[in-house]
Amino acid sequence: MTRELRRVVVTGGAGFLGSHLCDRFVAEGVEVVCLDNLLTGKPANLHHLQGHPGFRFLRCDVSDFIHVTGPVDAVLHFASPASPVDYLKLPIETLKVGSLGTLHSLGLAQEKGARFVLASTSEVYGDPQVHPQPESYWGHVNPVGPRGVYDEAKRFSEALATAYRTSRSVDTGIVRIFNTYGPRMRPDDGRAIPTFLRQALAGEPLTVAGDGSQTRSICYVDDLVTGIVALTRSELAGPVNIGNPDEMSVLDLARRIIELTGSTSRVVFVDRPVDDPGVRRPDTTLAVRELGWRPQVPWAQGLARTAQWFVNELAAA
Ligand SMILES: NC(=O)c1ccc[n+]([C@@H]2O[C@H](COP(=O)([O-])OP(=O)(O)OC[C@H]3O[C@@H](n4cnc5c(N)ncnc54)[C@H](O)[C@@H]3O)[C@@H](O)[C@H]2O)c1
Repeated sequence: MTRELRRVVVTGGAGFLGSHLCDRFVAEGVEVVCLDNLLTGKPANLHHLQGHPGFRFLRCDVSDFIHVTGPVDAVLHFASPASPVDYLKLPIETLKVGSLGTLHSLGLAQEKGARFVLASTSEVYGDPQVHPQPESYWGHVNPVGPRGVYDEAKRFSEALATAYRTSRSVDTGIVRIFNTYGPRMRPDDGRAIPTFLRQALAGEPLTVAGDGSQTRSICYVDDLVTGIVALTRSELAGPVNIGNPDEMSVLDLARRIIELTGSTSRVVFVDRPVDDPGVRRPDTTLAVRELGWRPQVPWAQGLARTAQWFVNELAAA
């Protein structure tokens, strides 16, 4: 069954993924209420939507409380620091938004009889011992390691969503998002793609962690948003992996970015962060079967679009 969406709430809508979600819903004629405290998001991500009759921005901390008037058909909970640089700087805020923020978002969905979609993450698999990762894999997470604040917050939020489904009859869906990239990533957010693009465009050395043999599977943001909208319109509980299974080593990624940007930069090797996952690739069987979702944008095209956006941003700055 496809759920009709007239009005949705997006928490974290001023961030990288949330702002693309707001764009997609508004483009599809769905009214959007965006809740964000601008902790890691930027008003500039939503500038083009301000004044649109189908869009409203409310500055609020969803870990404190949530109040939205009027009917709501879906609540998408995307608020959370998401890059390692951010959540290492904001450990308590990350745990609060994963726990209290999720509780309040679920409460809103229950009050409004709305569908609830939780932005979970491939980080719930930790440093995986099963490869590629199917949703049935329980993961390998260090709760007291530096990444624990994010990974455990997301694992808790999955448990909370599941409890609201089973004991409060809220129609919940959980998406485990794998590494996603695209325009509006912050050049300084510490994730590999923005870091490599910033370095390549400045002619600086690209800092590859370890020997660069660890792998990532990178998904262009438009593909991810298509999958999330399909999940929101569906009744699928999940968890469901959404990510591009096209796996590459981090060293390969750095070399591809150097080539794509025509940069003269070289690669240098730096220490690998503690608990950095060795491999990452989603098993997307469930998304293909239940949502008819497959990524469409090949890495060369997605990285070229992202690089162009970075060129424009850095020039404007
Ligand atoms: N980008 C990825 O590759 C990726 C991968 C897996 C999961 N996710 C999840 O997707 C969501 C969005 O990630 P992103 O990359 O867009 O990050 P982001 O940092 O760009 O966006 C997060 C947004 O949440 C807001 N926020 C944080 N705490 C808040 C609070 N207490 N109240 C209100 N707003 C708050 C921030 O200001 C920001 O606008 C996160 O939940 C993240 O865990 C992202």
